Amino acid sequence: MIKIGVVGAGYFGKHHAAKYAEIGRGRVVAVCDIDREKAEACASQYDALAVMDYRELFGRVDAVSIVVPTNAHFPIARDFLRQGIHVLLEKPISNTLAEADELIRIAKEKGVVFQVGHLERFNPAVQSMTKVLRRPRYIECQRISPFKLRGTDINVVLDMMIHDIDLVLNIVKAPVTQIDAIGVPVLSDAEDIANARIRFSDGCVAMITSSRVSWKTERTMRIFQPDAYIVLDLNASKLAVMRRVPGGGEGSMPELKQEEQLFQPVDNLKREIESFQSVIESGGEPLVTATDARRALEAALVISRQLQAWRDTLAETAVAGRR
Ligand SMILES: NC(=O)c1ccc[n+]([C@@H]2O[C@H](COP(=O)([O-])OP(=O)(O)OC[C@H]3O[C@@H](n4cnc5c(N)ncnc54)[C@H](O)[C@@H]3O)[C@@H](O)[C@H]2O)c1
Repeated sequence: MIKIGVVGAGYFGKHHAAKYAEIGRGRVVAVCDIDREKAEACASQYDALAVMDYRELFGRVDAVSIVVPTNAHFPIARDFLRQGIHVLLEKPISNTLAEADELIRIAKEKGVVFQVGHLERFNPAVQSMTKVLRRPRYIECQRISPFKLRGTDINVVLDMMIHDIDLVLNIVKAPVTQIDAIGVPVLSDAEDIANARIRFSDGCVAMITSSRVSWKTERTMRIFQPDAYIVLDLNASKLAVMRRVPGGGEGSMPELKQEEQLFQPVDNLKREIESFQSVIESGGEPLVTATDARRALEAALVISRQLQAWRDTLAETAVAGRR
């Protein structure tokens, strides 16, 4: 049995620990959190060791889930990888591309599994959608949710939009040629709502909107491609495809056929962790590689820089207005 450690026993870390226990292929032997109460409360459920310094896990675990705030991703992941320990690191991979490169380099050197938590890729509706794709031309993503304090240490792009950036980059294989983004802070100090338009060299365009200041929760993706329109409801795990039926005379109304697939509710995090364990046990590449996560971060950082520039412009305009 793989010996598992979980670093960060906050909201999502508790879920990671619970999934490992549910799957039962590994044993959670240690839980670390700088908050002793959180570490002990989580560890006690699995008869595991509770620690406050992640370095105490070295030599005790074969694999680790790192579920701490983004600023702490890099140093903790680097130290575990250096120890030759398999790492499942929450998204985003790190704060900078240089950090991401360093993690990828160490993982390769040590020959360990390094997976990043872009868990939407494990959604069965997403996996089914990729089978009906044929030269997507236009993609619209909408990810909105009510405001929470968790995650506001980073902007909405690194917090939420990065999931859709990863999905879009995985759908459109062509290189990104241009990014235009805009966004504003609303309830936190960082941007809480943002929109990005990503253009690709094959002509495809993706429009992504993310907001963490909404009344409701919605995660949808609409993909337009020659002769078909695909709607994906990521929350409901529902996929609808509207296809043009071949035939019909010139100028006549196209005949459309709609197919809908509703998937049984599945636990994306559980599937992500099962996949991580399978790669540790049997080898191969993780479904979401660190290189994929680096690509998503690269686009997210371009978007974030544009949002910052927009914020600076707004501040200058406000100052000029007061003069
Ligand atoms: N994939 C997803 O859908 C998803 C969803 C939620 C959160 N996340 C990610 O999970 C991570 C954690 O988010 P959260 O919502 O659980 O946050 P959280 O604030 O609830 O939990 C973070 C925990 O990490 C602990 N911590 C901080 N620094 C530490 C350190 N150096 N060593 C050990 N513990 C430390 C904190 O005390 C806290 O308990 C973030 O990277 C976030 O992006 C991903």
